[in-house]
Amino acid sequence: MSLDDLKPLEDNLLAQVTAAEDERTLDEVRVAALGKKGVISERMKSLGKMSPDERKEAGPILNSLKARVADAITARKETLENEALNARLAEETVDVTLPPAPLAKGRKHPITQVFEEVEAIFADMGFETREGPDIEDDFHNFTALNFPPGHPAREIHDTFFFEEKENGERMVLRTHTSPVQVRTMMNEKPPIRIIAPGRTFRCDSDQTHTPMFHQVEGLVIDKGTHMGHLKGTLEAFIKAFFEADELKTRFRPHFFPFTEPSAEMDVGYERVDGGLKIGTGDKWMEILGCGMVHPNVLKNCGLDPDEYQGFAFGMGVDRLAMLKYGIPDLRDFFAADTRWLEHYGFAG
Ligand code: PHE
Repeated sequence: MSLDDLKPLEDNLLAQVTAAEDERTLDEVRVAALGKKGVISERMKSLGKMSPDERKEAGPILNSLKARVADAITARKETLENEALNARLAEETVDVTLPPAPLAKGRKHPITQVFEEVEAIFADMGFETREGPDIEDDFHNFTALNFPPGHPAREIHDTFFFEEKENGERMVLRTHTSPVQVRTMMNEKPPIRIIAPGRTFRCDSDQTHTPMFHQVEGLVIDKGTHMGHLKGTLEAFIKAFFEADELKTRFRPHFFPFTEPSAEMDVGYERVDGGLKIGTGDKWMEILGCGMVHPNVLKNCGLDPDEYQGFAFGMGVDRLAMLKYGIPDLRDFFAADTRWLEHYGFAG
C-alpha cells in the first residue's frame, strides 16, 4: 500500500467534508470515515492481516491519512459553528431605539412621607430622633408616666395586654410613644430635645381608628422651659407642616396623667373647593395633645422638678397624613393595595 493508492480515497473524503453544509451532514461524513465501520477504520483493521513488513509501511500512511481527515472535520466543524453563530447574530439584532419595558417603581407610603417631613421640620429646630420598643413593660408605658396602678386612665387606652408572667407582670403593645420620653429622661442628661416617631397600638377600629397607628411624641427638658416655648414650637411646626402662611390656634385645657397643665391644640380650618385649608377659617380641628411634663414624671425618671421643667406633645401621624393629603379613610393606609399607593404614594 502506498500514499498514491489512498489518494483518491483521501480526496473523496476531504471533498465530502468541504461539501458538508451543516453539522449533521458533517457528522455523517465523520461516521462514514472514522466511525467503527467507517472506511478508514476498515483499512486500519486490515493492518492486522498484513505481514510485519507491510504493516510497518502501511501503518504510518494510514495513521497520517486518519489524522488529516480528522483535522479537516474539526476545522470544518468550527467553520460551520462560526457561520451558524454569525447567522444568528445577523438575524437577532437588538433595536436599541425601542422604548424599554416599563419598570414597576416603588413608591413611598404617605405615612413614611409624613414621618420624614415631621422629622425634617423638627431637625431644623434642633430636635433629635429617639426610638423605643413596640412591646413595653407596664412601668414605661404607664407607671412612670404617672398612671397609678388601677387608675381609670389606663382604661382609656384600650390596651393590648400580653399574658401575665409568673411574677404577675403583663407586657403591653405600647399605647403611645410616650414611653420613649421615659427612656430618654432615664438615659440622658438635660438639656433634652427629642422627637419619638413610631408605631402604637390600641384595641379600636373604624374609619378614623385602626388597631395599629402612628404617633410622633416630642419632649423638651431644660432649666426654665415654660409653656410659651411649647406654644411657639408647636405653632412653628404646624405652620411648616401644612405650609400655612397664617395660623389660628387654640389651646383647650385637657387631661393627661403625665402633663400638668395639659392641653389639646386646635387649629383653624375651612373648606375650600371640597378640600381642607388648614390655618385660617372659623372652624376648629383638634390636632394634638400637649402639656408641661408632670413633676411626678420627672421624679420617676430621676430628674429634680425644682431644677428642670419641660414640655411634651404627641400627635397622630396617620391623622396628619389624612389632613395634609386629603385621604378619607384611615384603614386604607394598611390595606396594602398598590393601586391606592399609586394614587396617594410619593415617587421616591
Ligand atoms: N401620649 C398621649 C396620647 O397618646 C399624647 C401626649 C403626649 C399628650 C405628650 C401630651 C403630651 O394620647
